[in-house]
Amino acid sequence: MAHKQISCFPILLFLVLSLTHLGTPFPSAYSQLDYYFYDQSCPRLQMIVKYGVWAAISNETRIAASLLRLHFHDCFVNGCDGSILLDDTNDFKGEKNALPNRNSARGFEVIESIKADVERACPSTVSCADILALAAREAVVLSGGPFWSVPLGRRDGLTASQKAANENLPGPFEPLENITAKFISKGLDIKDVVVLSGAHTIGFAQCFTFKNRLFNFKGSGKPDPRLDSSSLTNLQSMCPNKDASNTNLAPLDSPSPYTFDNSYYTSLVSNSGLLESDQALMGDSTAAALVNSYTYMAYLFNSDFAASMVKMGNVGVLTGKNGQIRKKCGSVN
Ligand code: HEM
Ligand SMILES: *[C@@H]1O[C@H](CO)[C@@H](O)[C@H](O)[C@H]1NC(C)=O
Ligand SMILES: *[C@@H]1O[C@H](CO)[C@@H](O)[C@H](O)[C@H]1NC(C)=O
Repeated sequence: MAHKQISCFPILLFLVLSLTHLGTPFPSAYSQLDYYFYDQSCPRLQMIVKYGVWAAISNETRIAASLLRLHFHDCFVNGCDGSILLDDTNDFKGEKNALPNRNSARGFEVIESIKADVERACPSTVSCADILALAAREAVVLSGGPFWSVPLGRRDGLTASQKAANENLPGPFEPLENITAKFISKGLDIKDVVVLSGAHTIGFAQCFTFKNRLFNFKGSGKPDPRLDSSSLTNLQSMCPNKDASNTNLAPLDSPSPYTFDNSYYTSLVSNSGLLESDQALMGDSTAAALVNSYTYMAYLFNSDFAASMVKMGNVGVLTGKNGQIRKKCGSVN
């Protein structure tokens, strides 16, 4: 009897350990990263990041959007390796000054300040790439969006590439096929394009990123015929037809620019998408069907967004002994 109980123990232990992992999405598909990576080495990590993002949002609401975008722009260039955070050096031109980022990407100081807090609690332990992935999640949660567990264990890159940033990041004037091709080259798909474009439910764009739609669309001398007329009037007043308005800001999701919800998709259905690349989702039947479903199934958008963020956060990650754990996010050690 006693012998039987003892021999059962390893099996029970195994069952208990497997059960504790059941609640996490995609336990095996993303095996390079680990949900529990810093549980022993930096147990307060998630609290520190959460507080840092909360404090930054209390100071400026828009920073939530900026942090979410920063993670995306990190992942699409050399993978999610914190390369976007690096300043220019003698060896390389950094990504901060690439066309899609210059005078546009924001939130660097927030990540650097959270990193300093994390270094005080757990020196040389947590990568900047992981802090950025966690900050993006907190930004979404604090804006009213979904929570997801962030797989961790990314290491920081040793270099950055301005050229790759110019080539790999999608632009607002690109057709959907080109944008989709860029996502596919990162192991993502058309569904991820639709779902992750939903990030434009928060944040702002400068007028020059869509002004071509307001006055002289493709040389027609007329506005983009796909743009709803009341949105057009509204945008023309925010972005008058002169160069001085180029850096004025317009909300990507005008009904609720600070709330992570599904109204971005509702606007696309009513031809009120801000960027040409946003509205272009309605020009593809697969994409448009998804857009439609998200307008009446907010919960589906939330769970799909969480899943696509985990997927994006896994792009080209450095793990194990690759890369390093930076001491400061702006420079390699
Ligand atoms: C699908 C292709 C995409 C294109 C063409 C695109 C383009 C843009 C552009 C042009 C802006 C305005 C930048 C400025 O005026 O300074 C912007 C802002 C933003 N993008 Fe995207 N984006 C795309 C996908 C994404 C994805 C995948 C995410 C995140 C998962 C994202 C998150 C954001 C956010 C949150 C903002 C607002 C940032 C702020 O207010 O600081 N975008 N995007
Ligand atoms: C607060 O937000 C402003 C922009 O609105 C920014 O310039 C400033 O650096 C922020 N301060 C802190 C402490 O984050
Ligand atoms: C789209 O991709 C094609 C093929 O790579 C390229 O020739 C074209 O210039 C791209 N269009 C834009 C607007 O970037």
